[in-house]
Amino acid sequence: MKNLVVLTGAGMSAESGISTFRDAGGLWERYPVEQVATPEGYAANPELVINFYNERRKQLLDVRPNRGHELLAGMEGSFNVTVITQNVDNLHERAGSSHVIHLHGELTKVTSSRHPNDPRYIRELRPDEYEVKMGDKAADGSQLRPFIVWFGEPVPMIETAIGFVRKADVFVIIGTSLNVYPAAGLLYYVPEGVPVYLIDPNEVSVASARKVTVIRKGASEGVAELKKMLSE
Ligand code: APR
Repeated sequence: MKNLVVLTGAGMSAESGISTFRDAGGLWERYPVEQVATPEGYAANPELVINFYNERRKQLLDVRPNRGHELLAGMEGSFNVTVITQNVDNLHERAGSSHVIHLHGELTKVTSSRHPNDPRYIRELRPDEYEVKMGDKAADGSQLRPFIVWFGEPVPMIETAIGFVRKADVFVIIGTSLNVYPAAGLLYYVPEGVPVYLIDPNEVSVASARKVTVIRKGASEGVAELKKMLSE
């Protein structure tokens, strides 16, 4: 089977009712990114940051995967699918995708404030634990923090992601403005000659001379169209 590698962003989950970041009315318009998504913001006001992610985490209980997530999961019947996502929600997994690489962390997990990337301290929360409080401790005694990669922090999963991109036979980008690196740079590792598709209802500027087949649709309709194109 051919390797289908998909890079997804916030637009993948938009039709499930989760806000994107940079569209009008997006999350970064409502919450100052330097306060809620940087190590400096966390140091200045950990409670604000913990509450911000508590809200995001609780939203997972109210949303469902959309048709786009489901169709992608269904493509595992015809391709070796690797989903590389910038999203911190769990909708790809809930739709049935079995190989998901989270570049920016996962809302359902928490970790140590002192050693956020030490696997000994990363832990999956049960839904009844979704509300993290000040004073809740990781196994090393530090405050429990969201397992989220903030701006200015390393992206440990990028090397794993690059490894899969280098072996792609088809590469697909869905619902990302390609503003944030290193995720946006994954396109550079797609081998020459491999077809690249981009699904987004809005124009996305791709910083590469590479030929990209644009499907200017939302995620659900766009993935349906992609399936048709790949089976022709
Ligand atoms: N289907 C597909 N794409 C959509 C849809 C939809 N229904 N609605 C909007 N989009 C597109 C927008 O046109 C835009 O190109 O989704 C993209 C969302 O872009 P951003 O809000 O910038 O989100 P993303 O690219 O995922 O952001 C990257 O930035 O803030 C950080 O860590 C955060 O992972 C995030 C990263």
